[in-house]
Amino acid sequence: MKVVEQIKEPIAYEMELFEQKFQLSMSSKVALLNRITHYIVNRKGKQMRPMFVFLVAKMVADGEVSERTYRGASVIELIHTATLVHDDVVDDSDRRRGFFSVNALWKNKIAVLIGDYLLSKGLLLSIDNNDFDLLKIISVAVREMSEGELLQIEKARKLDITEEVYYDIIRQKTATLIAACCSLGAASVKPASQHVDTMRKFGELIGMAFQIKDDLFDYGDTQIGKPTGIDIKEQKMTLPLIYALNNANKKDKKWLINSIKNHNKDKKRVKEVIAYVKSNGGLDYAITKMKTFQEEALNLLKDYPNSEYRTSLELMVNYVIDRKK
Ligand code: IPE
Ligand code: IPE
Ligand code: MG
Ligand code: MG
Repeated sequence: MKVVEQIKEPIAYEMELFEQKFQLSMSSKVALLNRITHYIVNRKGKQMRPMFVFLVAKMVADGEVSERTYRGASVIELIHTATLVHDDVVDDSDRRRGFFSVNALWKNKIAVLIGDYLLSKGLLLSIDNNDFDLLKIISVAVREMSEGELLQIEKARKLDITEEVYYDIIRQKTATLIAACCSLGAASVKPASQHVDTMRKFGELIGMAFQIKDDLFDYGDTQIGKPTGIDIKEQKMTLPLIYALNNANKKDKKWLINSIKNHNKDKKRVKEVIAYVKSNGGLDYAITKMKTFQEEALNLLKDYPNSEYRTSLELMVNYVIDRKK
């Protein structure tokens, strides 16, 4: 059995029902909107965030989930989808999940509005059902994601990013939403319990590893359903490059900075930078750091009694760093 199937086994029923509910949660009376949301739903992603929601809920409540859990999972996936639609505008990326991105097909104007629509649908799903405790968890994540993306742009302009600031960026733009998944999963069944905080921390750690993995993909040339090699083009400095810069001699450092500042759209030059980062241990360093976050996340799970849900979460933690897309 494939590892993803194994992970999903204890939540197969919930994930199936979730898909129906998720699809309904996007519907609109505007024909253009419906056409685009259909396009998005038909190209679903890995759905790791709802998987975290259900697995955590079932782990802390002995296999129990509630309507709140389903709504929470839908809200998170709606918001995740909204941020991807916006992120592809911000990053000027034309591919997502193996197909054209929304901005590539319908242009930026429409992509911005679609993202806003999905975000509002998500927030309303919580509000209309009085899930205010869940709404709070989600709203904090939405604010942090915007701050993270903006901090990233600020650093891309100044090219003065440090390793610490890189962790701040990925914590905000990616780890917070996965933290929200896990804490919301717990809160949906055991509100105001210790699990809500512990699972938040667990999600944050795994979210850090998740984004380091995503940044490593950008240095590879395997097919992952979205462009690779675009981070440097967008002057996005991620952990492998930060490490290489910190360990370069004066001359190399000057060449690296000059390449990113003035030759970032030159494909040949970008390839040379990537080769430099690779041969100077940038990828190895990032992998080591990713594994440190993975270990810390696994450690937090050890306090929970053994169950099929905990086993799936452990597999999921490992899948985050072993995944092929
Ligand atoms: C992509 O997330 C955005 C990042 C935070 C790196 P996923 O890799 O979970 O995207 P999908 O939903 O599976 O396409
Ligand atoms: C994740 O960063 C950004 C989000 C929080 C949506 P990336 O810009 O690296 O994500 P991908 O690589 O486009 O999926
Ligand atoms: Mg992007
Ligand atoms: Mg990326």
